[in-house]
Amino acid sequence: MKRIRKAVIPAAGYGTRFLPATKATPKEMLPIVDKPTIQYIVEEALQSGIEEILIISGHAKRAIEDHFDTNPGLEIHLQEHHDTELLKIVRSISEINIHYIRQKHMRGLGDAILCAQSFIDDEPFAVLLGDDVVYNDPHPALRQMIDVYNDIGATILGCQEVAQDKVSAYGIVKGVPVEGKPVLKVTSMIEKPSIEEAPSRIAALGRYIITPDVFEVLKRTEPGKGGEVQLTDALNTMAARESVYAYCFEGKRYDLGDKLGFLKATVEYALRRPDLGGPFREYLKSLVGHI
Ligand code: G1P
Repeated sequence: MKRIRKAVIPAAGYGTRFLPATKATPKEMLPIVDKPTIQYIVEEALQSGIEEILIISGHAKRAIEDHFDTNPGLEIHLQEHHDTELLKIVRSISEINIHYIRQKHMRGLGDAILCAQSFIDDEPFAVLLGDDVVYNDPHPALRQMIDVYNDIGATILGCQEVAQDKVSAYGIVKGVPVEGKPVLKVTSMIEKPSIEEAPSRIAALGRYIITPDVFEVLKRTEPGKGGEVQLTDALNTMAARESVYAYCFEGKRYDLGDKLGFLKATVEYALRRPDLGGPFREYLKSLVGHI
């Protein structure tokens, strides 16, 4: 069985829900506290044992490449000001080995994944979506999924149960329990169903381990919801032919595609920070009753 070494991070979308902030700045560069959201995703991949990362970028996404590049001018400035802590942080970001490819047309998540075919070749691989940040210390969501993959060796969808009124925002899974394993065997999957259509409340939440046969399936997948080629539709086809599993990962997941979700992530990540958590908690307490 091949190891999971490579990860794909789609980051080509327009980020229209965060306009005007995303007019000239990629959505993936918006920070939670002081770190761009895409860096949280990249760090989760590395902490999970991923060795090579491909970012699917697009029009006006240069800032992402610059962020993971070296910045000699800044390094000299920090050196001259003896700011060794910041210098360490800035250098460590540029040491991460990241590849890029551009998705030329916004044809959907399935089409974005298809852009990764030559990078992935014939290995099973991970996909991490930038809108889903998951906090779980010490075992990130992807690490948990790789552990499950090493046991069962098939496509795995990282899931969690969502509220009934949220099912239409996600890919929803229908599955049956597998004895002795922490997974469901997926029998079908549907992209953003209505509440009535939804077969369950188990949603795919931005973490996937996928076998490379997905590429051939994606090539034959017609545009679905929203006129876009949906990864969910390709996974649904795969589930009819081979074993596809859903694993409910542990961790607090934030929906960064949603403004309220972004605010919650900002507040909670700030509260967890050793340098900010104390005074920030006091500040929040002082607001209670006044707002
Ligand atoms: C995408 C997927 C969807 C998945 C979701 C997780 O939707 O198409 O199946 O549940 O990510 O966040 P998006 O939110 O990009 O529209």
